[in-house]
Amino acid sequence: MCGIVGYVGSMRVVPIILEGLKKLEYRGYDSSGIVYLYEGKLCKHRCEGKLARLEEKIDGQRDVLSHIGLGHTRWATHGAPTERNAHPHCDCTGELVVVHNGIIENYQSLREELQQKGHLFSSDTDTEVLAHLIEESLNGDLAKAVTKALKKVHGSFALGVMWAGQPDTLVAVRNQSPLVLGIQEGGGCLLASDIPALLPFTRQMVFLDDEELAVLRPGGWEVMKLHSGRRVKKETRTIDWNAGMAEKAGYKHFMLKEIFEQPQSVLNTIRGRLDAESGLVRFSELGLGRQEAEAIRRIVLVACGTSWHAALVGKYWLEKWAGIPVEVDIASEFRYRRLLLDESSLVILISQSGETADTLAGLRLAKKMGARVIAICNVVGSTMTREAHGTIYTHAGPEIGVASTKAFTSQLAALLLLTLSLGQLKETVAPEASRELGAALVELPALLETELPRLQEEIEPLAREYAASRDFLYLGRGSMYPIALEGALKLKEISYIHAEGYAAGELKHGPIALIDREMPVLALVPRDHVYEKVVSNVEEVRARLGRLIVVGSKGDRALRKITDQAIEMPVVHQELNPILYAIPLQLLAYQIAVLRGCDVDQPRNLAKSVTVE
Ligand code: AGP
Repeated sequence: MCGIVGYVGSMRVVPIILEGLKKLEYRGYDSSGIVYLYEGKLCKHRCEGKLARLEEKIDGQRDVLSHIGLGHTRWATHGAPTERNAHPHCDCTGELVVVHNGIIENYQSLREELQQKGHLFSSDTDTEVLAHLIEESLNGDLAKAVTKALKKVHGSFALGVMWAGQPDTLVAVRNQSPLVLGIQEGGGCLLASDIPALLPFTRQMVFLDDEELAVLRPGGWEVMKLHSGRRVKKETRTIDWNAGMAEKAGYKHFMLKEIFEQPQSVLNTIRGRLDAESGLVRFSELGLGRQEAEAIRRIVLVACGTSWHAALVGKYWLEKWAGIPVEVDIASEFRYRRLLLDESSLVILISQSGETADTLAGLRLAKKMGARVIAICNVVGSTMTREAHGTIYTHAGPEIGVASTKAFTSQLAALLLLTLSLGQLKETVAPEASRELGAALVELPALLETELPRLQEEIEPLAREYAASRDFLYLGRGSMYPIALEGALKLKEISYIHAEGYAAGELKHGPIALIDREMPVLALVPRDHVYEKVVSNVEEVRARLGRLIVVGSKGDRALRKITDQAIEMPVVHQELNPILYAIPLQLLAYQIAVLRGCDVDQPRNLAKSVTVE
């Protein structure tokens, strides 16, 4: 997803923009660009590929005496990922530039209209129409011109605009794409698509809402409503993440660091919410009392990708312990089907970033239909958290690796807490069961801490053996089925090995035809209520000479008889298995991807925050 950084103030702008852009690399991009004002002229540099190439290109200009500029990392939507399509984009005079994240839906008709008026285009992007439209409206005041131009635009945008005619002013606009302002004590002002880009320079941030325009100048900033121009009073929030929290802390990749952070992130999710003795859960932030809990007739969980896998696990828990029927939807499907929601429905949106376009659209639809809407989210101040009726923050800390790991297990911990809380309010969970489950959850972070290094080591030979595979099957039943899906997703997204997750019982309905001596099959076989069933499925694979890896309970001799490639997991409360068993699968995917020389933190074609549908 595109990333925007802007700065105006008394510091030299080039190093600020470059550092900010580096912090946004996790979003995924295929080209980058920078523009700054020097001696009254805009100096623009763009290039295809990684940021290092842009840095090389402008080597020697880091110290240039410029105090205002914009930078951009582009994730192509309209037009190939080439230098000519990289942002910033200019108007015809070359004195006005725009950087943009989002999609301009009516760009084709606007482009034709502008071309008829004589505007010359130099890219294939939807963004460039914005520069020419603003040029058309420009009459000495950049903010007014932006406001006027955007009246004609349909779509989603976060924008940074700069004009040589107003050399101390940046204009920022947010509409359905994230944008945050950073305010420095010395009067410098920044704008960026996400918090990590601002953290090296300030902790004081202002979160723009949709249809808000900000004017940034050295020493001051103001926010107004995009269309009416009415001033909006915004709060400055202190973000307590430090820049170091977003660094790799000695690990080779962010993904590995984040896998090893899971004891802490799970602990952070449960901390202050779960009473260790009684297992009672308090979610004061949700404002759900007994009456409200009893009024819930149906829960709908909506998410994408890994977050959708968390939702699938949530269904098992919520139905079993809270006794409420649960539907799980992929957000891009949910938003385009006929929804039967009302005030008795609780809709839970699960999203690490809180910005995923489809999930956000689902939130808005559900809200419109009168449902109670809750977000489970990791990013404070993100759009979903601001629009939902309530938010359960996962508190996993910033997740930089594109492949989600710690955010996933924190989502699971949050869903389990929510399950307990609803079950306790409705009295569908017996106090003894609450105590048992609560105690097991409290002990989980310490257990993860000891298991992680052991698993890392044990998985190494397996990763070596399977790194050259072409395909992979993952099998699981019950709450292990979504974990099989997640294991397959992790492997395919970072190692580019084709991998599929299946409900083990589905094997004989088709996928079994794929099994031969070449096909690796990883089966999740904890000692739970469907253990015997999964063992039968594993035997079916063995009979067809598939290459079996089993992940099962420590000391399970039956599994050892089936294959010598067994990863042994400690025996915990059955409901915690999804969290625990996700970890060896994350490590296996990670190690295989590293052995294959893949760009683990920024896999090809993927973006961390998918803010377009
Ligand atoms: C996870 O590894 C993926 N890269 C992706 O599926 C992700 O989970 C999905 O895009 C949803 O993102 P969200 O949680 O930020 O909404």
